Amino acid sequence: MARKRILTGDRPTGPLHLGHYAGSLQNRVSLQDEYDTFIIIADIQALSTNFDRPEKLQVDVRDVALDNIASGLDPERMSIFVQSMVPQIAELTVLFSMFTTVNRLRHNPTIKSEAKQYGFEDNMTYGFLGYPVSQAADILFCRADLVPVGEDQLPHIEMTRFVARRFNELYDEVFPEPEPMVSRVSRLMGLDGNAKMSKSLGNCIYLSDPPDVVEEKVSQAVTDPARIHKDDPGHPEVCTIFNYHAAFSEDEIENIKEMCRRGTIGCVACKKNLAKRLNELLEPIRQKRRELEKAGSIDDILVEGNRRAVEEGERTMELVRDAMGIDYWDME
Ligand code: TRP
Repeated sequence: MARKRILTGDRPTGPLHLGHYAGSLQNRVSLQDEYDTFIIIADIQALSTNFDRPEKLQVDVRDVALDNIASGLDPERMSIFVQSMVPQIAELTVLFSMFTTVNRLRHNPTIKSEAKQYGFEDNMTYGFLGYPVSQAADILFCRADLVPVGEDQLPHIEMTRFVARRFNELYDEVFPEPEPMVSRVSRLMGLDGNAKMSKSLGNCIYLSDPPDVVEEKVSQAVTDPARIHKDDPGHPEVCTIFNYHAAFSEDEIENIKEMCRRGTIGCVACKKNLAKRLNELLEPIRQKRRELEKAGSIDDILVEGNRRAVEEGERTMELVRDAMGIDYWDME
């Protein structure tokens, strides 16, 4: 039996951070053999908030590719590709937009909170409001079964399931209804105590940050405001540092929680411990990234990924055109 398929990916708006790692990258890496895996670098989606700076994409697309592969995705075993290089995704976006209502998009909680974050609640572009339709096309162009994502992406997967179901009802059974897969740590807090680590909030630890930067960022992070003296009892559930320990120090977590609650470990020591942990996790990723940069192979990897994605996209478009009866002529 054929392996089931994964499609997931990122917006190229800069290098990837620990939130991406905990939310999805870790899962991608561990599932790449069990599933036929496609990783999308969603450059067109990045334009939904950066349409005035397309020149940034040249660097950002390659950064995201490097981060994915440095984290352990193997170009021999999966495909990584760029959204704009697969025209079938754009075609599907248009077709799906015909039966997706504006109301449904307006009610999408992730769209709502991002609109607020970027300040375009009253003046939203068509492309921004509609990007979940384009994301459905990202997932369905290869008829994916499973989508490993962070919690904030769940409304988009819901939209994708709606699109698949609606298409199948209207025309013919073409698409599976893809399932989301949320990781054990579905959301990582920002260094500033914000609920979400996010590039645009400037509160991230990047996978490519050097060791001293990681130490510095961790030492500056917001902790439990009730802990003024070293031995004050702490509240790990509100602490950023504890949130990171929960994600990356699983084996020590009960111990850390107890010591914080009793006030037997100070925030400085707790931060030192975390920085050490993070640097142990990141060192092999940094090293792999340096090797890849030196080898200069990232463009070849992406070109091959694009080729495989287009091949899959063509297969899907044949099914779609056939289902809708818009296959008037054979133009070969
Ligand atoms: N919206 C995702 C993010 O902001 C990126 C993305 C684009 C994606 N297309 C996707 C994720 C398809 C999963 C599947 O991180």
